[in-house]
Amino acid sequence: MIPINPAARANVHLIDHPLVQHKLTLMRKKEASTNSFRRLLGELSSLMAYEVCRGMAVQDVEIETPLEVMNGKQIDGKKLVFVSILRAGNGILDGVLSVVPGARVGHIGLYRDPATLQAVEYYFKMPKNMEERDIVIVDPMLATGNSAVAAVTRLKACHPKSIKFLCLLTCPEGINALHQAHPDVAVFTAAIDRELNDHGYILPGLGDAGDRIFGTQ
Ligand code: URA
Repeated sequence: MIPINPAARANVHLIDHPLVQHKLTLMRKKEASTNSFRRLLGELSSLMAYEVCRGMAVQDVEIETPLEVMNGKQIDGKKLVFVSILRAGNGILDGVLSVVPGARVGHIGLYRDPATLQAVEYYFKMPKNMEERDIVIVDPMLATGNSAVAAVTRLKACHPKSIKFLCLLTCPEGINALHQAHPDVAVFTAAIDRELNDHGYILPGLGDAGDRIFGTQ
């Protein structure tokens, strides 16, 4: 078990709401079916979207209630892009889009080379005008950090306004690696687990997120 760099830990937002923690525990159970795992991931993703959007800019907008004119607040959902790291990131999209339906969606395909555990890119498709957008990268597991680091490096080349990283679970190794490469990227997660095993899986974790979402085990 390795320590978390204190500067890296300071940039991690642990979402400890009881509903989030309860649903995460149900998902971790090995007997959870594909159906319930996917449903719980959707519910958790929408709950976590509230936290990740907490710092979003709002504009004043003049509206009329049935009684009078007032200034309300409004966010520009279209400026937000959720970028899914394929394929497990897709399990988070429906939940976050249910909270911010106007957001755009990008996809980045990275696979882990089984020998080196390094990320190799095979797909990249983003909306236009990325320099005007705030990005939230979604991936259930921030494990070695290799995919996350590669995704952020690639997305920074598009010059977005900001980048955040939303995951379900992470571990000291993933937090330290992402912070070392990209100290400006805040991480939002429901849990910081103990450690990685030799195969790059988080312990105690929940197994292979992609297999559990799509029933491919
Ligand atoms: N990816 C997964 O799906 N699970 C882990 O534990 C680590 C990476």
